[in-house]
Amino acid sequence: MNAVILVGGLGTRLRPLSINTPKSMMPVVNIPFIEYVIRRLSRHNIKHIVMAISHLAQPIKNYIGDGRRFGVSITYTVEDTALGTAGAVKNAEQYLDGETFVALNGDIFTDLDISAMVALHKRRKAKITIALIPVEDPTFYGLVETDDKGRITRFLEKPSREQITTNMINAGTYIMETDVLNSIPAQTMFSFEKEVFPPLLQKGEPIYAFPSSCYWMDIGTPQKYHQLNRDLLNGESNQFNFTANTRISSGKNSNTHRTAEITGPAVIGDNCTIGQKAVFNGAVVIGSGSTIGDGAIVEDSVIWQNVEIEKGAIIKRSIIADNCLIGSKSTIVDAVISDNVTITADYNLKAGSKIWPDKTIG
Ligand code: GDD
Ligand code: MG
Repeated sequence: MNAVILVGGLGTRLRPLSINTPKSMMPVVNIPFIEYVIRRLSRHNIKHIVMAISHLAQPIKNYIGDGRRFGVSITYTVEDTALGTAGAVKNAEQYLDGETFVALNGDIFTDLDISAMVALHKRRKAKITIALIPVEDPTFYGLVETDDKGRITRFLEKPSREQITTNMINAGTYIMETDVLNSIPAQTMFSFEKEVFPPLLQKGEPIYAFPSSCYWMDIGTPQKYHQLNRDLLNGESNQFNFTANTRISSGKNSNTHRTAEITGPAVIGDNCTIGQKAVFNGAVVIGSGSTIGDGAIVEDSVIWQNVEIEKGAIIKRSIIADNCLIGSKSTIVDAVISDNVTITADYNLKAGSKIWPDKTIG
């Protein structure tokens, strides 16, 4: 079966993390986000994937390549200007062989059972089947109403509070017949959610829901990105498990001083050094090549690659991207720090700060 992954968004709300790193390459427990998506599709026997890209394509191509090491083959379609969700899939039509296919938003991490969804789609002889998930606040999403037979009756993209009639939203995974693409103009900005689904419903096409309550998280904002890392370390998804029951994993050539206190859950990448009496509290991810100095405290934080946290620094509930230097005894709380940032020694960064790349603060 074929799939199209939409990886074109600008990731504006993920700034400053997304300035140099496309959303799909954000490291989730030290592995680029998109790798989880591709491996999951592969497990559900989807062996050809079109990556529909409109922005920062090269890092994705460099990492994924032809897909062989994930057990799939990959085709790339790159848009000159963004075509929107439906326009991007239309642009991939020639690679879909006229067969039922899967389309997915590329910014969602989920354990959704795609095989079961395909089976339901076929059983119902649906034109489109849309995965639904309950959320607390549907205003950020596409609200979807269904009848008692699971047939979709209404779409409402980004409803206002007064418009909320259900907590079920479009979970960003679709099974579709290729003739759906006939209603989409070529090389034109076009949205599934606003311009394709509602008119097809009006025409009475069979569009069904696949409701699920499995793990689901979109990485739209730094907070959600952080929560995803936490959730995986806490065993909320079946896509990450610690190999031993210590809930601490450490990569190749990494050294943790015997006096360091790591309670876990923690994942430490390759070639890391954790100094004397360093303390990790809560869920902590440390990217490859990073160093945590003596007596430093890292609590509930995600640190990317080649970050140096000097001795006595305190990092709490923060995300620190590649190649940063946090000076000794500095304090970083509730911060999001992009790449190549230096925080000088003894500096107390204002809580909740977001720091853009290539800055020196202090
Ligand atoms: N190739 C390409 N080209 N991809 C695009 C484009 C484009 O022009 N525009 C958006 N995408 C990709 C994004 O990268 C993302 O993976 C997906 O399409 C959805 O776009 P978002 O911009 O992230 O939409 P959203 O999060 O506001 O809403 C969508 O997702 C919700 C679930 O997270 C909608 O589908 C909602 O209905 C849904 O509830
Ligand atoms: Mg999104």
